[in-house]
Amino acid sequence: MSSKSNILQILEKNRGTYISGEELAQQLQISRSAIWKAINELKKEGYQIISVTNKGYCLSDETDVLSAEGIGPYLTHGNQDMIHIFKTVDSTNHVAKKMALEQSPHGTVVLAEEQTAGRGRMGRSFHSPAGSGIYMSLILRPNLTSNDAVLITTAASVAVARAIEEVTHICAGIKWVNDIYINGKKICGILTEALTDFESGGIESIILGIGINFTTAVSAFPEEIQQKADSLFHEKPAGITRNQIAVAVINHVLSVCEHLQNRSFISEYRQRSIVLGKNIEVIQGTKSEKATAIDIDENGGLIIKKQDGAVTSLHSGEISIKGNFAS
Ligand code: BTN
Repeated sequence: MSSKSNILQILEKNRGTYISGEELAQQLQISRSAIWKAINELKKEGYQIISVTNKGYCLSDETDVLSAEGIGPYLTHGNQDMIHIFKTVDSTNHVAKKMALEQSPHGTVVLAEEQTAGRGRMGRSFHSPAGSGIYMSLILRPNLTSNDAVLITTAASVAVARAIEEVTHICAGIKWVNDIYINGKKICGILTEALTDFESGGIESIILGIGINFTTAVSAFPEEIQQKADSLFHEKPAGITRNQIAVAVINHVLSVCEHLQNRSFISEYRQRSIVLGKNIEVIQGTKSEKATAIDIDENGGLIIKKQDGAVTSLHSGEISIKGNFAS
């Protein structure tokens, strides 16, 4: 690790408290002027570092810059070298896909401050302005048959909901398949893409793309989603950073992936579901039909009752929640 990275890691671990230049120099075995130079570089990168004579340097609680140094020390799965942070990318899923093809291991994470071509499900785009969201993709290489791979989508939503709740203490619900909702508004979308092994036809790796609106202003969303989407916070929250949410998401996703086949997360998915018992509209391709959402099956499929009374499981497509059909 570079001196700058080492200094950042120490400042991140001691957020809000002062560390003297002497202590940093001693710990890292570098000169005071090398410390000063690195601190200036960090300031230019957006870190709010307060320097006070006779006290030293302190990373302000206000600082919210995504960094491997702010994530790495808190990982319970994987390690800091697997966290790749970019300022701007077209899509983190796109970057992660390229890395997966170059054999990056299970647990590799790509995070970006901004996406210029963020992608959503069903060919939609995902609005990803700089500095106000968490745009991340994980490379997963679980030992799964293609049948069981669908479980990742369901498990990931449970993991993301758990992570958000753990850090923010805000209750997070799930709208089938994998949108995270808070107070009736979507604050996070998940896009799962599989890379298949051409020879065996099996799943070679899975790219799990997660987009969380952290402080994006509703007025900044495209007009067509302004009624449906929201952000976790409407102003910069005190004491909560995007790094904290990112590390919680990584830890929960990688943990739930270890137990996919026993499906233990399905009951939590049911509890968090905001659609069960509701009238819905099922949209598949160009067709749409009314139904009632009844349950989640053991593979994460949505069990619905159609208007003619037929009961069936949905494994693809999209739903929207409706009020009373008669109205
Ligand atoms: C959806 O709501 O339709 C899914 C949105 C998924 C967005 C995330 S942001 C990180 C990753 N990179 C992308 O281009 N998309 C996913």
